[in-house]
Amino acid sequence: MNTTASYSQRPLVDSFGRHVTYLRVSVTDRCDFRCTYCMSEDMVFLPKSEVLSFEEIREVIGAFVRRGVRKVRLTGGEPLVRRDIIKLIEAISADHLATGQIDELTLTTNGSQLAKHAVRLVELGMKRINVSLDTLDADKFAAITRRGRLDQVLDGIRAAREAGLAVKLNMVAIKGVNENEIVPMMEWAHSNGMELTLIEEMPLGEVSADRSDTHLSLRTVRDRLAERYTLTPIAKRTGGPARYMQIAETSGTIGFITPLSHNFCESCNRVRLTCTGQLYMCLGQDDKVDLRAAMRDSGPAGLDAALDRAMILKPKGHDFVIERRSAPAVERHMSVTGG
Ligand SMILES: C[S@@+](CC[C@H](N)C(=O)[O-])C[C@H]1O[C@@H](n2cnc3c(N)ncnc32)[C@H](O)[C@@H]1O
Ligand code: SF4
Repeated sequence: MNTTASYSQRPLVDSFGRHVTYLRVSVTDRCDFRCTYCMSEDMVFLPKSEVLSFEEIREVIGAFVRRGVRKVRLTGGEPLVRRDIIKLIEAISADHLATGQIDELTLTTNGSQLAKHAVRLVELGMKRINVSLDTLDADKFAAITRRGRLDQVLDGIRAAREAGLAVKLNMVAIKGVNENEIVPMMEWAHSNGMELTLIEEMPLGEVSADRSDTHLSLRTVRDRLAERYTLTPIAKRTGGPARYMQIAETSGTIGFITPLSHNFCESCNRVRLTCTGQLYMCLGQDDKVDLRAAMRDSGPAGLDAALDRAMILKPKGHDFVIERRSAPAVERHMSVTGG
């Protein structure tokens, strides 16, 4: 990593006065699953030569941290399937977590490799992780993920909790597929000390189904939950799209990520780095800055200038809409931008 070059320490503030303090890093576009809402069956992945090296990822994270990023989330694709991923986590942890430069290093994972890595993640300073889980029914799990095994993921979640990681479950609400499982999932999560966040399907990339057939508004879900439970909004704000409710009967919390039925952009504090070094300032817009080219062509000064450009380009909000036969809002899949 380039440690001698001088980087700017100017805070990252966009044209709307929002401070960028949260960086999500997709470390690979590859995955061992092919979830129906995320990928097509015959996904073609990027050649490995196009993917940033660990050194380059460290360089980019370093530039962001110097300019005020306090939280880094690794995602993908499936971050834990990238070869030697633990070496990268070791490096980021030593560079920034152990030194107190960031408050949090975390991960979003499908859980398939968690049993193998959970203890080491805790040793490296991770405190909580997000695990995606859309159903507790083994057959349905196999159908949604096209190649995942539920027992493997449940083992991973157990290992994570035993190692001391707080686990938040992410569940994409899919009409006619898992909408009847939201209550059982919430009861299971809360009785095992886990939070649950429901995600509205977003129109990212072409998938096999027409998304208007599977899109379920979380407003409907919340109304249905309110018939059985006492929901109280809680103030927890992450600068992200989730809004949280306390459930009196279970003493747990449930989050709602509602990009389509609620606009969350005014408090957005995040940007996303793809595994090829493209920086997207918004999940639902196509504007991007090529950090890999900036870094390779002009070194640290180029990288800094690219971050300044990114702040000017960060849009006010997204334009998601799901209507029958409408094209995806953006062509890239979630696995490319990083969820
Ligand atoms: C792209 S995945 C990457 C990390 C990891 N593979 C996982 O599944 O947790 C991150 C999150 O994005 C969600 N996701 C993928 N495609 C989506 C879509 N079209 N709309 C909403 N959420 C989506 C997944 O359910 C997951 O919770
Ligand atoms: S949601 Fe995560 S686990 Fe599922 S295909 Fe996408 S990247 Fe893989």
